[in-house]
This record gives sequence, C-alpha cells and structure tokens, in this order.
Amino acid sequence: MQKIIELLEANKQWAESLKAEDPTFFERLSEAQNPEILWIGCSDSRITPTSSVGLLPGEMFVHRNVANLVNHSDMNCLAVMQFAIEVLKVRHVIVCGHYGCGGVKAAFDDSRYGLVDNWLRHIQDTMHKHREEIDRQGDYEAQLDKLCEINVIEQIVSVGETTIVQDAWERGQELYIHGWIYRIAEGIYRDLGVTVSSLEQIGAMRDTTFDRRVETRPAGSRPA
Ligand code: CO
Repeated sequence: MQKIIELLEANKQWAESLKAEDPTFFERLSEAQNPEILWIGCSDSRITPTSSVGLLPGEMFVHRNVANLVNHSDMNCLAVMQFAIEVLKVRHVIVCGHYGCGGVKAAFDDSRYGLVDNWLRHIQDTMHKHREEIDRQGDYEAQLDKLCEINVIEQIVSVGETTIVQDAWERGQELYIHGWIYRIAEGIYRDLGVTVSSLEQIGAMRDTTFDRRVETRPAGSRPA
C-alpha cells in the first residue's frame, strides 16, 4: 500500500509532465470543460476510464457505481446524466461493464455482503428476466460473462428510458448510447454492438428479448 504522502508526490510529477508537454494545459482546463462523452461504469479499482481510452482531463464526464447500474430512483446518477446531457451537451453515453464484476458475481451467487445486496437486487431482477438465455451458456464462467453483458444492455435501456434522454431526443439533440464491456485480463474494451440513438430503438429493445436484439444488431454496428 502506497503511503498517502507518496500520492501527493506522484501527483506533482504527473502535473509537471503534462505541463512540460503543454505549458498552459491546466490554465485552459480551469476555464471550462467540454466533454463529448458521459461514462457510466463500475467503481472497480482496476478500471481507469479516461486514461485507458486515451483521453485527457476535461474530455470525459464520469459516473461510477457498483456494477454500473442506472436506476430511475438514483438521484446521484440522474443528476450526473442531467448535467452532462442538458448542460454539457455530451453526444455519447457509454455504459461500460466488465467481465468478472464482483457486483454481478455477488448477485449471481446470491452472496450476502450487507447493504450493497439491496443495490445488487437490481441485477438479480435482470438475471431472473433473462434466466433462460443465461442457462443456455456453458459453464459457470460463461453464464457469469453473459450476465455481465446482459446487465450492460439492460442499463442502456434504463438510460434511454430516463426523462432526461427522452427529452433530449424529443428536442432533436443528437445523443448515442453505447454498451461496452471490459476484460480486465486483457485491458481491452469491446463494443456490444447495441448503440441506440432514438426513442423508437429503445422501445424496440424493451419489447424484444435479448436474443433477438443481439441477432438483429451485429457486433460493432452503428445506427444509420
Ligand atoms: Co464491477
């Protein structure tokens, strides 16, 4: 474990190295932020959203919680989304899950950790909803991987069903919701190929099964 004082030393070096490349970087950054992306991801310490996709401070607005969930009663998440979409006018929302997610695993295993179990209850609801598809996967690991993927897809629908996103689309604001999944063992993100950008697409996703959604939208596809 690093001593806290070492963190402050490391921070000085980080700031110096950025200033060495771009002397006015922090001055300009202090004036405004102009991110194009809102990231909704897991709190897992092994994931570093901004730097792992080559972005600098100021280029990504970030919300993280255990198991990257978007619940319509979570004022924290909704406030982040509202500010990012209505004030900062981000063009993309990336919901990013990851394989081996402890939150998803706890829900899958029905483990008890305390208060967090109530938060993870949402994943158990998702698991029951997609039970057949999960059961069709091979072994335990494959089933858990599938639940991690399905959890991302379900959160895309949740994002698209917020009044914030629906109002944005209704007033003609361009906004894409993407679903990504990260494999920690490789350090690589993968697009789940279910990007949505309209009320109609969200409606179609909600009304069809996960299987059909995947079949009709090949990996990496983008809306026209
Ligand atoms: Co996680």
